Amino acid sequence: MQNLDQIAEEAAAAFAATDDPDALEQIKARYLGKSGRITELLKGMARLSPEERKTAGAAINRVKEAVEASLNARRDAIRRLALETRLAEESLDVTLPGRGESRGGLHPVTRTLERIEALFGSIGFEVADGPEIEADFQNFTALNTPADHPARSMHDTFYLQDEKGQPARDILLRTHTSPVQVRYMQAHVARYADLETMPEIRVIAPGRVYRVDSDATHSPMFHQVEGLWIGENVSFADLKGVVADFLRRFFETDDLQVRFRPSFFPFTEPSAEIDAAYMSGPMKGRWLEVGGCGMVHPNVLRHVGIDPEKYLGFAFGMGPDRLTMLRYGVNDLRLFFDGDLRFLRQFV
Ligand code: PHE
Repeated sequence: MQNLDQIAEEAAAAFAATDDPDALEQIKARYLGKSGRITELLKGMARLSPEERKTAGAAINRVKEAVEASLNARRDAIRRLALETRLAEESLDVTLPGRGESRGGLHPVTRTLERIEALFGSIGFEVADGPEIEADFQNFTALNTPADHPARSMHDTFYLQDEKGQPARDILLRTHTSPVQVRYMQAHVARYADLETMPEIRVIAPGRVYRVDSDATHSPMFHQVEGLWIGENVSFADLKGVVADFLRRFFETDDLQVRFRPSFFPFTEPSAEIDAAYMSGPMKGRWLEVGGCGMVHPNVLRHVGIDPEKYLGFAFGMGPDRLTMLRYGVNDLRLFFDGDLRFLRQFV
C-alpha cells in the first residue's frame, strides 16, 4: 500500500504547485480522469480474486477520497486567492476627496435678466427680441436720430465693413435695445392692419448692445432691457409707477427712493434719467443711475405708422449689468465678462 500513499502525496504536491484553475483541472485528470492513475488502479481490480478485491478496493477508494479532498481544498484556496487579489486591486481609498458633480450655473447677469422678465411678465409685459447686427434705420433714423444728428455721437458706434472692406454705414452693432421698439411696433402695425382697434403694446426687450467704451463701469459689450408701453392713455405717471415699482421689487425693498432727472434722448419727449438710492443704511443718499426713459416721441410713432394723435406711451432702457452690480455689491463691471469661474461661481 506504500505505492497508494505515494500517489496521494504526489497528487497533493502537484495540486499545491499550481494556482491556475485550468492547470489544476488538467492535473486532476492525471489522477481521476478516464485513464488517470487511480482510475487505472480501479480498472486493475478486475484481475484480482474476490478477497483481494475487497481490501484493495477499500484502499484505493481511501486514496481516491484523499486525492479528491486535496483537490477540493486546492480549488477553494485558488478561488480565495483570486478574490483577494481582485479586492486588493480594486480597493477604494475612501479618504480621497470626492470628485463631485461639476454642474454649471447661470451667469449673474442672466439671473438678473430672468428676474426682470419675471417681474415685468407679472404685470403683462411680453418679451421681444431683435438682431444685434442692426440697420441704421432701426438703430437711429426711426428713433428720430437722422444722419448728421449730433445725438449720434453720444453712441460710439461699431460700424461694419462690406465685402470690399469698405465701411458699411447702413449696418452696425446696435448701440442700444431701442431698435427693438421700432421692430416690434412695425410688426404690430403689420399684424393689426386696423389701427383704430389695435391692442396695446406692452413689451420688454432684453439683450446685448455694443459701444466703443471700456472702463470699470463701461464695457464694449453690455446689456440693456428696453421697455415699451403704447396705448391710448399711457402717461408719465404710469412710467414712474411701473419703473419705481419694478425697482423696489427687483431689490426686494421699499427702502428705495427713485427719481426722474430731466435729460435728453432724441426718441423721447420729455426724457429723464432714472436714479435710485437707498433711504437708510450705509448707502443712504447715494444716487445711482440705472437707466433712461421718457414719453415716446411722436416722430418715432410716425416712422412706424402709428398715429401720434391717437396713441402715446412711454419707453425706458435700463442697464441690467448695473442692476446686477448693485444687487450683489460688485464694483467692477468687467468682472462679469472676464469669464473667471472663481468670480462667477460665487453667484451660483
Ligand atoms: N436707448 C437709450 C440709451 O441707450 C435709453 C433709453 C431707452 C432712453 C428708452 C429712453 C427711452 O441710452
